[in-house]
Amino acid sequence: LERTLSIVKPDAVEKNHTGAIIARLEQEGFIVRAMKRVHLTRAEAEGFYAEHRGRGFFDELCSFMSRSPIVIMALEREDAIAKYREVIGATNPANAAEGTIRKLYAASVGENAVHGSDKPESAAREIAYFFAGYEVSPRA
Ligand code: GTP
Ligand code: MG
Repeated sequence: LERTLSIVKPDAVEKNHTGAIIARLEQEGFIVRAMKRVHLTRAEAEGFYAEHRGRGFFDELCSFMSRSPIVIMALEREDAIAKYREVIGATNPANAAEGTIRKLYAASVGENAVHGSDKPESAAREIAYFFAGYEVSPRA
């Protein structure tokens, strides 16, 4: 089974959509291996998004991600990375398919409700960025 790092972003937590989003992910067969709610500092957000440093939206992205609490999960499933990205939909909710999490809960490309890892190496780095080994349960 594969793992992916999932974040319910500040906009969705502020609107009380956390539970609905987790319920949907469980319906889609994802197992929550680790979970916590934290309010990132700006520096922690910058470290998480280091690969985007230098892009035009980097400052806006890091301000947004550190504006209020987020809920972070390590999820497990067969083909978790691709399946998760299918369930959340396109980065810009205007382009997201009907029924996807971003179509349902996101307002804009900047405030788009959720994050998901884009490849196995990113998932490993991102899970290790937020969770100590003992926080990720080894079995369901
Ligand atoms: P993540 O799951 O959050 O990584 O989204 P993604 O993989 O679909 O998008 P990408 O990694 O390319 O960009 C990371 C995040 O930067 C996006 O989820 C958006 O929140 C934000 N972002 C991307 N493009 C823009 C943009 O043009 N403007 C703003 N404000 N934010 C953007
Ligand atoms: Mg990405």
